[in-house]
Order: sequence, then C-alpha cells, then structure tokens
Amino acid sequence: MSRIDELFAAPDGSDPAGSEPAGSESAGSEPAGSEPAGSESAASETSAGTTRRTLRDRLRGALRPARDTVSDATVEGNPEFAGPIIELEDVTRFFPGPPPVNALRGVNLTVERGDYLAIVGPSGSGKSTMLNTLGLLDRPSTGRFLFEGIDVAGLSDDERSALRGRAVGFVFQSFHLMPTRTVLENVMLAGTYAGLTRDEREPLARTALERVGLSHRVDFSPNTLSGGERQRVAIARAVCTSPRLLLADEPTGNLDRENSASIMRLFQELSSDGLTIVMITHDQHVADVAERRVRINDGELSELS
Ligand SMILES: Nc1ncnc2c1ncn2[C@@H]1O[C@H](COP(=O)(O)OP(=O)(O)OP(=O)(O)O)[C@@H](O)[C@H]1O
Ligand SMILES: [Mg+2]
Repeated sequence: MSRIDELFAAPDGSDPAGSEPAGSESAGSEPAGSEPAGSESAASETSAGTTRRTLRDRLRGALRPARDTVSDATVEGNPEFAGPIIELEDVTRFFPGPPPVNALRGVNLTVERGDYLAIVGPSGSGKSTMLNTLGLLDRPSTGRFLFEGIDVAGLSDDERSALRGRAVGFVFQSFHLMPTRTVLENVMLAGTYAGLTRDEREPLARTALERVGLSHRVDFSPNTLSGGERQRVAIARAVCTSPRLLLADEPTGNLDRENSASIMRLFQELSSDGLTIVMITHDQHVADVAERRVRINDGELSELS
C-alpha cells in the first residue's frame, strides 16, 4: 500500500461511519511509518511487507503517547496566523536511493492565505515530492518549512499527523476512494482523521457532498460513479472538515475535458471562498485557471509570470 492509499484508508479496524471518534490512534497514524518515504511513486509493498507493516503499526499505535500529550496548540495549527500559510526556505529533499536523487534543490516559496497556486513541470521534476512536503507527508532533508508560522521540523510524528488531519485536504489524480464504502462513508472518513465524532462528521459530509452537487449519490458505491463524480467525492472528502490548505496532485489527470472544466470551476469557487489551493498539473489550460504559477525543473523552483 502506498503512503497515499494509507492516507485515505480507514484507521485500523475502524469504521468511518462508526460511533467512536478515532482519537489519537487515527489522528496520529503516520501514512508510511517513521521514514519519510516520499511520493505516490513509492514502491508498493509485498503482501509479507504489508503484514509486517500492519503489525509494526499496531505496535507503534499501542506505544503512542495518549492524545493529551500532543500539544493542543500544535494539533490545531495556527488558523489565525496573519503571515503566510506556507514558507519554504532553501528546502531540499534528497533520496539516498540507489540511485540517489536530489528531488528538491534549495526551494524557496511563500504561499499566502487565499493563494491559488499551480505547480507545473516535467515528469520526475519533483512536483509530487513538493506537494508531499507541503502536506506534511514528507519532511525536507534540509532547509526550513514553516506552516502557519510553526516550524514543522520541531513537530513529533503524532503532532505532524494531527496538524495534517486538521489543516490539510488532499485530492489526487486517482481519487483514492474506498470501494467497499458508500460515498457518504468515504467523505466521513476525513472527519475521522480530524478527530471528530460521528455526530459531527455526518452533517459535515452531507454538506460537503451537497456543495459538490452529489447529494443524490450519498448511498452509492464509488464504483458506480463516473470519473468526474468520483473526483467530486474526493473533493468533498478533502474540504468537509474546512481545511486551510487544499493540495491537489493532477486532479484532472483522469478526466475528459468537460469533467476537467467542471472540476476546475469547483476549485475556483473554493478559491473564491478563501481556501488556499496548491495544485499540480500538466495541463496548461488547468494551470491558467490558477492565479499564480510556479515551475519545477529538476528540483529547482521558479516563479512564472
Ligand atoms: N520515495 C522515493 N525514493 C526515491 N526516489 C524518489 C522517491 N520519490 C520520488 N523520487 C524521485 O524524485 C524525483 C521526483 O519525483 P516526483 O514524484 O516528485 O516527480 P513528479 O514531478 O511528481 O513526476 P510526475 O509528473 O511523473 O508525477 C524522481 O526522480 C523520483 O524518482
Ligand atoms: Mg507526480
């Protein structure tokens, strides 16, 4: 299972529509263990590897500190912070390999609240590595990353995961919906990671599904939906807990032109509502919708006009 799949998997044995809030177990569950494993392209594990990981994660879960040992201020982030939501200073990400790769080389980037930023660049240039870093899924090798003014390097794994669950929503090219859950349950899962009770999660999920025009599909299986509808479910899941940052990695990559345009309209609405959006795209038309564009080439970032 890749770290992105794990991001959207139900917490160990729990039911996203179940009655118990997931608490520290889910808020603290680290998508890919303690090493920063990098991007969506991280190798899938063998079934033996998966078993090992499950056992290891259960052990780690059992040994995790109780929730109240995670600093509340850090868990909540700093929603009122008046400065930039993101500041990267000379950030690098080195994968030792083999072969060794410098996926990010001295990246400087400031994202203000409400910005709508598109990241473009060729395959393998470091876009997903960058997004994983911004989304607290990966750590810089060197450099400074401030999220709402908080130096992320100072956070424990639990604190990072909890902050991610509260503050960041993710949308990916391949939707990452759970086929055995209904549309509503898939969206409610986001609330689990944000530490909400079932009573809090369900109305938020229904509101988010209404927002993306899918109220009539709440009890459907994701498998019965069109690609555009599936991406709407993924967007509802990403925004239902009102994150401060929406990260999207090729959100229209699997969609035809019409569906792609309608997803972009939805992003524009979210941006108009004040949500900060960082989106990776190969599609120039999609990039043109954003207010600001940056390009990554071989791990180096440059601002486009
Ligand atoms: N976990 C990892 N371990 C080793 N190398 C990695 C890892 N993740 C990414 N890389 C390498 O870092 C570089 C950047 O990868 P990244 O996935 O960020 O590219 P990308 O710009 O998103 O490409 P694409 O457009 O194809 O998705 C690539 O050379 C890739 O092989
Ligand atoms: Mg990528």
